[in-house]
Amino acid sequence: MLKIKLSVAEKICGLVKLLNEAADLKPADVAQMLEYPPDTSMGDLAFPCFKLSKTLRRSPALIAGSLAEKLSGGCIEKAEAVNGYLNIKISDGYLCDNVLPQILDRKENYGAPTLGEGKTVVLDYSSPNVAKPFHIGHLGTTVIGHSLKRLHEFAGYKCIGINYLGDWGTQFGKLIVAYRLWGNKEEIEEGGIDKLVELYVRINNEIKGNPEKGIPPRDDLAQLSRDEFHKMETGDEENLKLWKWFVEMSLKEYEKTYKQLGIEFDSYNGESFYVDKMPAQIEALKEKGLLKTDDGASIVDLSEYDMPPFLVLKSDGSTLYTTRDIAAAVYRKQTYHFDKSIYVTSNQQILHFRQLFKVIELMGYDWYDELVHVPYGTVSINGEKLATRTGNVVLLKDLFALAIEKVTSIMEEKNPDLRGRDDIAEAVGVGAVVFYYLSNNRIKDINFVLEEALSFDGNTGPYVQYTYARACSVLEKAGESEKGKLKITCEEESALLKILCQYEEKVLAAIRDYEPSVIARFILDIAAAFNRFYHNCQILSAEDEDVRYTRIKITEAVKYVLGSAFGLICLKKTEKI
Ligand code: ARG
Repeated sequence: MLKIKLSVAEKICGLVKLLNEAADLKPADVAQMLEYPPDTSMGDLAFPCFKLSKTLRRSPALIAGSLAEKLSGGCIEKAEAVNGYLNIKISDGYLCDNVLPQILDRKENYGAPTLGEGKTVVLDYSSPNVAKPFHIGHLGTTVIGHSLKRLHEFAGYKCIGINYLGDWGTQFGKLIVAYRLWGNKEEIEEGGIDKLVELYVRINNEIKGNPEKGIPPRDDLAQLSRDEFHKMETGDEENLKLWKWFVEMSLKEYEKTYKQLGIEFDSYNGESFYVDKMPAQIEALKEKGLLKTDDGASIVDLSEYDMPPFLVLKSDGSTLYTTRDIAAAVYRKQTYHFDKSIYVTSNQQILHFRQLFKVIELMGYDWYDELVHVPYGTVSINGEKLATRTGNVVLLKDLFALAIEKVTSIMEEKNPDLRGRDDIAEAVGVGAVVFYYLSNNRIKDINFVLEEALSFDGNTGPYVQYTYARACSVLEKAGESEKGKLKITCEEESALLKILCQYEEKVLAAIRDYEPSVIARFILDIAAAFNRFYHNCQILSAEDEDVRYTRIKITEAVKYVLGSAFGLICLKKTEKI
């Protein structure tokens, strides 16, 4: 639709010039002003004439009227003036001679913008804290982050996806203490991350201790944990060996979830990677005179910017999450020369990133405004919030497993002979969770209701994947492509093409707002239009050869655009369901 908008805009500019020689209107600006009427029966595009009223010294209604009289040709079927708006209908001929062949030619590349050519984007997402549960609170960062990566790649950016593992910090001290008190090697090798989480939860819940069994009370445990972490930071081999093992065990587990989602990272440089890169940044902070001592700790005072101080070093000199984030930002700029560096985390970290970006600015790094924080709202399941420390959480892998199990039983009933059912059930089960999540604005708090997500009838993942399978099945039955002439004969066909040709605009909007939900909703629009077309128009049984040919080609176009859009939001393509 971008091309269509521009060509309509050029015509409008030409006509406005005729009305007033002095009017200086640019096609690109007019294209921006073109709107989609709320009801397509009014037209496909609308141009509000109110702003022109002053320059042309005429009423908007009069302007719309004189433009409507003369606007024609190219992609325009007709133009009508209604209440100061110029309503424009796009011609079927244009859709059929231009839009459809373009989609068929470019296939899944149709709609790809060139916005990012020659530019690099770094994306920091998923980034779970090792040995803490990978729970549904991480769903957001994982799937929003990966969708943003796919969107940027589609627009031509070079993308570096970084899983910034939380693999350093006092929690490892805790884990080491807990392991030595209650853990054993075999159990952990077997039980994996679940056992580690159990240990972590256990030490956090220990309050009184039990001197007879050699278990110290809470405060002592906390001190012991800090000591063990301090030993790690100063190179204690025993502790570092344990730490490495914990990280490996956790990663193995995460990989399974990433595989289900079709996610791969370009880098796993987590917090520990920056341990030796922090001193240089601490030096830089000192040189700039930014570090202040506050009760023994080192902080950057941000009161001038209405923010609490940024704590960089604890009073015992140990580093923090904040310190590592400074080192990581600088390292990434030096290593990848990014044009944009994106961080996707829950909205609980909004302040952290505001502070971080300000500190980077104060340090004199002139690329501070290339840093972007993309926050998202909280997730609850059936109304329950999630807390890490109590162990009362829903793990992402369990949620996926449950969804897959439910889909399997639905499919056993609906399509008992389906081959390759396990893979399909996985794609649909995981897809249901992902789609349910991504069809909401990211900043909204979400309450997860699995039954809703899994329904084949609502605006859900299974429904859109089923629609994709439906298109594939039509094409399979159609067999080898026959020759014919493209011609549009019904409203359902043109409605569908008018939606498909909005793809590039949707991609650009999703990138501009860091909002994958734009694509999820676009997928729903396509699915609705395709299903209407499928039910109301005969495709394979159309009598006229050219009509049949055109409808098969439209179905093929739907398959390309849907398939491409699925890829942008971590949804797997299901040829069969
Ligand atoms: N590991 C952190 C957490 O789970 C998220 C890290 C986000 N990225 C960053 N560079 N701080 O809360």
